[in-house]
Amino acid sequence: MQVIILDTPEQVAEKSAQWVTELIEQKPAAVLGLATGSTPISLYQLLVEQYRQGVLSFANVTTFNLDEYHNIAAENLQSYRTFMQKHLFEHVDIAVSRTFLPTCSAEQNPRLQGEEYEQLIKAKGGIDLQILGIGANGHIGFNEPTSSLASRTRIKTLTKQTLADNSRLFTQDEVQPTMAMTMGIATILEANHVLLMATGENKASAVKQMITGPLNAMCPASALQLHQHAVIIIDKAAASELTEQDYFLWADKEQRKVTDDHGLLTVC
Ligand code: GLP
Repeated sequence: MQVIILDTPEQVAEKSAQWVTELIEQKPAAVLGLATGSTPISLYQLLVEQYRQGVLSFANVTTFNLDEYHNIAAENLQSYRTFMQKHLFEHVDIAVSRTFLPTCSAEQNPRLQGEEYEQLIKAKGGIDLQILGIGANGHIGFNEPTSSLASRTRIKTLTKQTLADNSRLFTQDEVQPTMAMTMGIATILEANHVLLMATGENKASAVKQMITGPLNAMCPASALQLHQHAVIIIDKAAASELTEQDYFLWADKEQRKVTDDHGLLTVC
């Protein structure tokens, strides 16, 4: 695990954007795993800016989102499809037909839909870089605590904590879904690289458990300890409970001696 601690959330977004752009430069037909939530919004803004400046193209990129609410219409303002359209897809040159989310309507069978999503990821050659956020309870995607570390794309019931954390995003008139389809932990671990972004003090405890806690289904993000190429990019607030902060800051400096910023994807 490579842990990069930066001063501000803006720097977290900049560093993460650098990873994504480097990947697309190296591999224009890259397969990106995408996340929703408030944390990656600033990353998407930077990617849109780069596209507008003509230095980045998504024309050959394929994307797979981590999760989507169960039985939600794509055009619903709360769907993750709407989120992705609004924050990234509508503003860049990606064809909607190359963007995938693990959808499942009431009429569909979640098990079959999950399997189909897994097959589709495989058919596109697998995910080159998976972007992740982290829930305050340590979830990644919607893999809530107690999720099997061997899980695959499936339906999950959200925890009370996640529902409470995300309730801020719903108006009084909107129904907050309690179930979602999500890539599993094993699905996420199969990505060639994973990049987890976390900012703010409310993530500090989950970040500590993810990086230095035991590998444990109660902190699904701790499964990233098993990944060969996982980079954790966090701000100081999210790192505030890490007792190994000094080591990570020093290791990051040392690492720069053997690789420049443009060698990010070959480090870890
Ligand atoms: C959501 C998503 C996760 C996201 C997390 C954190 O529920 N399913 O993929 O990482 O919660 O969200 P935020 O970045 O808003 O804190």
